[in-house]
Amino acid sequence: MSENQVYEKVMNCVNTIRLKTDFKPRVAITLGSGLGDYADQIEIKCEVPYSEIPGFPVSTVPGHDGRFIFGYVGDVPVVCMKGRVHYYEGYDISDVVLPARVMKMLGAEILFLTNAAGGINYNFAAGDLMLINDHISVFAPNPLIGPNITEFGERFTDMTTVYNKDLRKIIKETALENKIPLKEGVYCQLTGPSFESPAEIKMLRTLGVDAVGMSTVVEAIVANHMGMKICGISCISNLAAGMQAEPLSHEDVQKAADTTGPMFKKLVTECIKKF
Ligand code: HPA
Repeated sequence: MSENQVYEKVMNCVNTIRLKTDFKPRVAITLGSGLGDYADQIEIKCEVPYSEIPGFPVSTVPGHDGRFIFGYVGDVPVVCMKGRVHYYEGYDISDVVLPARVMKMLGAEILFLTNAAGGINYNFAAGDLMLINDHISVFAPNPLIGPNITEFGERFTDMTTVYNKDLRKIIKETALENKIPLKEGVYCQLTGPSFESPAEIKMLRTLGVDAVGMSTVVEAIVANHMGMKICGISCISNLAAGMQAEPLSHEDVQKAADTTGPMFKKLVTECIKKF
């Protein structure tokens, strides 16, 4: 897609949403596995199903009806993405990152990314939460490839501090206050949908990766391009391939993420109240 087509598609989505609500969020939240029922933490003001937004990418997984939820966490106006699409579903990378751009254009200054991830660091266990302090993007397509969209940001985006230091400090303090154990580390996005091989996990560990998944980094790149403040937490749903006796299955990943869900929800909510 050409530069203007991508920009126009984002703005068409923004304009469609604006016909339904004038709610202006400050924090945008992308919900990963384990936070599927996060909506119960939100004083909901308005919901917009993705299917009502022409051109908006809708998950190919049957029964996954995605929607934007607008409302308040404490006093903080938020927009929450319930359901996201992944690159492995076959979408153009510009569509995978479109929702993050739309949320910024609706007013969000902060992007809070969450996901389920495989733990690579030997000090991690299934059920841990990991604050993302940096990422490795080189195994996923860069969503900024193509003509630069100047309305969004600069051609060559500085990536020195993608995950905002002040937000990280708040998250660490909040975890401590609420006695929620929190690990910290580098997240790497691969395309999926196959899980990694043990040799790939060994490679990633050698490269300094602590957790691996199939989302988040591409969203962080476009959000950084647009000047958003970004933070992210991974739910370590399993130890990565070759680190546990059993083979990996999506069902087990989902189950483990759900078990950590209540603690994860509490942490996200208490942090947002302080943002
Ligand atoms: N690998 C990649 N993505 C994942 C994993 C994993 O082990 N667990 C949850 N998402």
